Amino acid sequence: MQILTLANQKGGCGKTTTAIHLAAALHAAGERTLLVDLDPQAHATLGLGCFVGRAPSLVDVMRGRVPALSVLRELRPGLSLLPATLGLGEFEEEATVALGTERALTAALTPLQAEFDYVVVDCPPRADGILTANAVRAATTVLLIVETGAFALQGALRAHGLFEEIIQREGRATPIRVLATMFDARTRFAREVLVGMHSRFGETMYDTAIRSSVKLREAVASGAPLQWHSPRARASTDFAALATEVRQGRSVSTYSDF
Ligand SMILES: Nc1ncnc2c1ncn2[C@@H]1O[C@H](COP(=O)(O)OP(=O)(O)O)[C@@H](O)[C@H]1O
Ligand SMILES: [Mg+2]
Repeated sequence: MQILTLANQKGGCGKTTTAIHLAAALHAAGERTLLVDLDPQAHATLGLGCFVGRAPSLVDVMRGRVPALSVLRELRPGLSLLPATLGLGEFEEEATVALGTERALTAALTPLQAEFDYVVVDCPPRADGILTANAVRAATTVLLIVETGAFALQGALRAHGLFEEIIQREGRATPIRVLATMFDARTRFAREVLVGMHSRFGETMYDTAIRSSVKLREAVASGAPLQWHSPRARASTDFAALATEVRQGRSVSTYSDF
């Protein structure tokens, strides 16, 4: 089971939109996929049209009160969601005074090993909080999501450094891959930012950049991934290309294990 943690140090850079559509693209490629909503704002949960109400959610799993399997929502056969509620914000507060809380997500996902090929984790805006630390620890790959805009590179470098520290403390060698999003090829500025990102992050960058797309915005507001209505839309093909790269990445790393 590959665990892809989508993170950055700020909100509004496209994490949730990317998480929903990457999960849908991996599922469309035949992978059993789970989307984990680790943001107390529950945007991914809402963006997939899920209502949680008082039902148990991810925070109850992370507190060890219920098993993950009992909280999963099946969106389609082979695609499920672990939904978020505002209670995750309380977890972040409680966790700062309790020990062992940085591995709560790893513990929550371990029983799902046989159920899924890919887990996509959508992180909250804070890069330095307990929730993001949980997601980075649990990851087999961290995807740093970078909006192709002003100051993006500086913020991305800071987040990259933070994630590296967490990974080193854990004594692991989890790769950090960089994904450019909200890319508008028509503007010279965006093209320059993308070139800057490639020169800084080199081969750790995905070749695919997710282009800016109004349809993606509308899809999240409508409660279903764009691929379900418009598989041929430009943004759907961007995510299909990203899913192909992500799956190739797995075969490369599996190979080097031998
Ligand atoms: N590729 C994209 N093209 C156009 N708009 C996008 C794209 N990705 C995200 N957005 C928009 O940017 C805003 C922030 O995106 P979101 O995914 O919620 O970011 P985050 O989860 O990092 O806060 C939203 O209004 C969303 O619709
Ligand atoms: Mg978000």
